[in-house]
Amino acid sequence: MVSEKIDDFTKIQQLEKEKRILIKKLERSEKNCLELEQINQRKEFFLRQIIHELEDSQREVKEKRQLEQTLIELKRTQAQLVHAEKMSSLGQLVAGVAHEINNPVNFIHGNLTHIQQYSQNLLELVQLYQQHYPHPVAEIQEKENEIDLDFLQIDLLQILKSMNIGTDRIRKIVLSLRNFSRMDESDFKSVDIHEGIDSTLLILQHRLKDNRGCSEIKVIRNYGNLPLVECYAGQLNQVFMNILANAIDAIDEVNAKTTQQERKENLSQITISTSMIDLDWVEIAIADSGGGIPESIKKLIFNPFFTTKPVGKGTGMGMAISYQIITEKHGGELMCFSAPGTGAEFVIRIPVQKKVYNLV
Ligand SMILES: Nc1ncnc2c1ncn2[C@@H]1O[C@H](COP(=O)(O)OP(=O)(O)OP(=O)(O)O)[C@@H](O)[C@H]1O
Ligand SMILES: [Mg+2]
Repeated sequence: MVSEKIDDFTKIQQLEKEKRILIKKLERSEKNCLELEQINQRKEFFLRQIIHELEDSQREVKEKRQLEQTLIELKRTQAQLVHAEKMSSLGQLVAGVAHEINNPVNFIHGNLTHIQQYSQNLLELVQLYQQHYPHPVAEIQEKENEIDLDFLQIDLLQILKSMNIGTDRIRKIVLSLRNFSRMDESDFKSVDIHEGIDSTLLILQHRLKDNRGCSEIKVIRNYGNLPLVECYAGQLNQVFMNILANAIDAIDEVNAKTTQQERKENLSQITISTSMIDLDWVEIAIADSGGGIPESIKKLIFNPFFTTKPVGKGTGMGMAISYQIITEKHGGELMCFSAPGTGAEFVIRIPVQKKVYNLV
């Protein structure tokens, strides 16, 4: 009995000892848990901070990108303004010159008819004298010989005729210059596209002629039957000017590298074709016999500032502005086709009437 009691007692003691140990363990693990929780809280805090910083830097990157975009936009607008200013100064200059020439030319042209009439009268009078006084005094005969009266009578009227043709030509040039500048027309107007192309060609005439050691550039006009087209005529002329100037540059570049013999065999030419695609759209295609545009460059030519020309020669804005004028201002399309060695072709498509598309 006693031994049984002793046994129970030791068991209880043993159990109590185990209990104490367990309590201690529990206490330790609770402490560990607390520490872990604190560590976790600290980690969470740091993570939140990192996320915050990441969000901040992301925002900064986005803002920086927006700023870069704005800067590009600003540069583009600035270049467009410069180009527009250049073209408008050119337009103003052309309009000014045309205006100044117009008056004196009309003055000469108007008076030529009178001179023609007076000369005719005087010649008739001389002829009458010759008829009635076939043997004039020696002094008159001498004068007749001196001035070669017979030749003078024929030549005077010829000269007057060519002067008439000359002043007529100047008047046409003045008309073309006025047509090109179209200073008075900033609105949408119905115009004859061919007139615009012709006056642009006239402005570029000095670059087409064989006068700088380069061979002449032949212009082939395949004009179709076009109706009047509603457009900003002055701006459309700028597009023709940019495309034609580029075509001449490309031909000049090829010609500079070839011999006279090679130039004779491969004629330099620009072909301008116009046609109607359907009742609502017209197409103007300008093809040149220059060196063409490599595939890698073709997709870049409408980018602002893209140029392959030497510094100071090209600004790289001509095509960018032309693209904007055709697509944004006229709701049209400007396309470029080219394979190296076969020249380049630029195709403009614009609606005949503004109402076909809705521009603001
Ligand atoms: N007909 C063409 N033949 C070959 N390359 C061309 C032709 N038209 C345009 N290009 C290429 O496209 C580039 C961009 O033309 P764009 O008219 O925009 O600029 P640019 O002629 O260099 O300078 P500018 O602003 O003075 O016109 C040219 O530098 C040239 O490389
Ligand atoms: Mg150009």
